[in-house]
Amino acid sequence: MFEGKVSLTGIKPTGTPHLGNLLGAIMPVVKMSNLAKKTYVFVADLHALNAVKDIKAIKENSYEVAATYLAMGINMEKTVLFRQSDIPEVPQLSSLLMNVTPKGLMNRAHAYKAAVDKNTEKGEDPDAGINMGLYTYPILMAADILLYKSDVVPVGQDQKQHVEFARDIAGSFNYIYGDILTVPEPVIPPDAASVPGLDGRKMSKSYNNYIPIFTDEKNLKKLIMRIITDSKTPEEPKDPDDSTIFQIYRAFASDAEIAELRAKFEKGGMGYGEAKQILFEKVNACLKEPREKYNHLISHPKEIDEILAAGAAEARVEAKKTLQSVLSAMLG
Ligand code: TRP
Repeated sequence: MFEGKVSLTGIKPTGTPHLGNLLGAIMPVVKMSNLAKKTYVFVADLHALNAVKDIKAIKENSYEVAATYLAMGINMEKTVLFRQSDIPEVPQLSSLLMNVTPKGLMNRAHAYKAAVDKNTEKGEDPDAGINMGLYTYPILMAADILLYKSDVVPVGQDQKQHVEFARDIAGSFNYIYGDILTVPEPVIPPDAASVPGLDGRKMSKSYNNYIPIFTDEKNLKKLIMRIITDSKTPEEPKDPDDSTIFQIYRAFASDAEIAELRAKFEKGGMGYGEAKQILFEKVNACLKEPREKYNHLISHPKEIDEILAAGAAEARVEAKKTLQSVLSAMLG
C-alpha cells in the first residue's frame, strides 16, 4: 500500500497529543515511514489559524507534535519533518489553486457546512463568525498535498473529504493546464485504532476524557484508575469488548497478552482495579522510553528547531519545483 510511494500527512497543533491521536494517527504514520519511499510529516500550524489566536499555544503544541513523532521513532532516514509555515510556497500555491477551485466545492465541505448549520439552528446569519480561513481550509490543504507530489495521504475518516477535494482540484488544474500535478489517494490506515476515553466515549480533547501520551507515570496511573466501569464485582465474568480498559489494552499488547487478558475478563475473578493495574503497567512499559526522549526534546526546543529547519530546507526543494511548474503552466 505504501511501498515505493510518497506519503504525506499534516497534524494541526491544537492540543497536547493524547492516546487517541497516538493509536489512531501517529503510530500508523510511524509504521508507514518504514515502508514508504518518502514520508512528509508536518505541523499544520497555518491550518490552526482560522480557529486559534493564542500564539503561545500554537508554538507549544507545535513542539509537542514534532517531539511526539521523534520520540515514537519515526524513520528519520526517509522522513521529512517540518513546520508548514516554514514553506512560503504553501500559501503561494494555495492562492493559485483558488482559480481552479469551484466555490460550490467549498460550500460542500463538512466543516464549513457544520458551522453554517450551527448558525442556522441558532437563527443567526448562516456565515456568522466564519472566516475565509475556515472556508478556504480545503484549498490550503490541497496545496500541502500537491506541493510535494504526494501519492498517498493517510488520514482519518474525518479528513477523507479534504483529500478528495485535493484530487478534484488537481484534476481540474491538470485538465486546463496539462498533466502537472500528481493526483493523490486518501488512505485510511488499516492499523489505525480508535480508543475510548476515560468516560467510554471516543477519546477526544473536546470531551476532556483523554490521557496525554507523555504525562508522567504517576498521573498516567491516576488517569487509568479513573476509567469509568460498570459495577460488576470481582467474581463476576465481564465482557472485554464492552470495557474501556480492554479496548485500550489491546492497542498496546501482543496477541498472546490480549488473549490472556480476554480470558481473565470472561472467567471472572478479576476486579476492575486489578485490570486497571495490568493496563497501567502495559501502557507505561510501552511509553517509558519514548517519554524520556520526549521530555528531553521538550526541554531542548533548539534541537527540535534544528530538525524542523533541516526538514523545511529539504521540503522546499520539492516545493519550489512544483510551484515553478505551476506558475509557468499558468502564466508562461
Ligand atoms: N486538516 C488536517 C486535520 O485537521 C491537518 C492537515 C493539514 C493535513 N494539511 C494536511 C492532513 C495535509 C493531511 C494532509 O487533521
